[in-house]
Amino acid sequence: MRPLRWCDGALELLDQRRLPATEVWLRCTELEDVARAIETMAVRGAPAIGIAAAFGFYLGCRKLGAAATAEASRAAVAARLAATRPTAYNLFWALARMEAVARQCSGLRPDAFLERLCQEAQAIADADVAANRAIGRHGQTVVPDGARVLTHCNAGALATGGYGTALGVLRAAREAGKRLGVLACETRPLLQGARLTAWELGREGMEVTLITDGMAGHFMARGEVDLVLVGADRIAANGDVANKIGTYSLAVLARAHGVPFYVAAPCSTVDLTVPDGAGIVIEERDPDEVLCCGGVRIAPPGATAANPAFDVTPHRYLTGIITDRGLLEPPFSPGLARLVGGG
Ligand code: MRU
Repeated sequence: MRPLRWCDGALELLDQRRLPATEVWLRCTELEDVARAIETMAVRGAPAIGIAAAFGFYLGCRKLGAAATAEASRAAVAARLAATRPTAYNLFWALARMEAVARQCSGLRPDAFLERLCQEAQAIADADVAANRAIGRHGQTVVPDGARVLTHCNAGALATGGYGTALGVLRAAREAGKRLGVLACETRPLLQGARLTAWELGREGMEVTLITDGMAGHFMARGEVDLVLVGADRIAANGDVANKIGTYSLAVLARAHGVPFYVAAPCSTVDLTVPDGAGIVIEERDPDEVLCCGGVRIAPPGATAANPAFDVTPHRYLTGIITDRGLLEPPFSPGLARLVGGG
């Protein structure tokens, strides 16, 4: 299952705001369509945001026409997309890759230049699916047969080009014939676990037990969680991980109960320019997302709310990071530098 597709000159997105009730595809023909889809989370999940941004870059350049071969004209296109969501590193990684190709090809005729950009966006999408399958393979050593795995948010096919990171590891385990039990946190405020992870795994016949975010410690204390497996929005050079709000609490609980805690992410999520988690910008979203649930206001009039969309899990809580280039164990800095920076 792929949540993004390129079809007849437009980017089509499976609208994740409408799932699981309705499967509607949004058609984006302009830069602004893509930027709004990212901001409003019609498309979400770090790798999927990166892929959408790559196509958005192409669509913005297509509108510019011949002017797109000039770097100054393209800057506004990239700036609009970069302003959509600040935490997912794949967004910035994909924009940098598109700009690098644009520079290399700026001598081509406008038609050929644009064609090359469109090909690059498609290559980013295809490479992400391949990366997820590699993550799935590398993750098999940490998932024993019969494991009961707790996951948070949605780090599945919906959050990527397809197949998924954390859920990709579970898919690969299932393909290898392992039996699994999956506990999925509902993931307030936007319920990616309840709406998306339960939908995505359920339609493949995988057994998922949904729990509220506050139940995780209870199940760990009862010995009913063998490992925690989550995705990442940005990984700093020292291995600190920004991921969906609530991930940090799960990591602390896992440590307290001796449960292994793994992060699964492609190398395109690793930002070696940020030394540690303190340098990662955390997106603040509309307080109404907390004050309401499923579109219904649940807080009294006048109540206020905070809404950080992500938190940072310090690297000391991680048992390992499963990447498309291999499984890393502590200390993470040298491994990340080697896998991502070639150092
Ligand atoms: O706000 P979202 O839904 O975009 O947040 C998504 C997550 O936090 C995912 O865990 C992360 O992007 C990894 S997706 C493979």
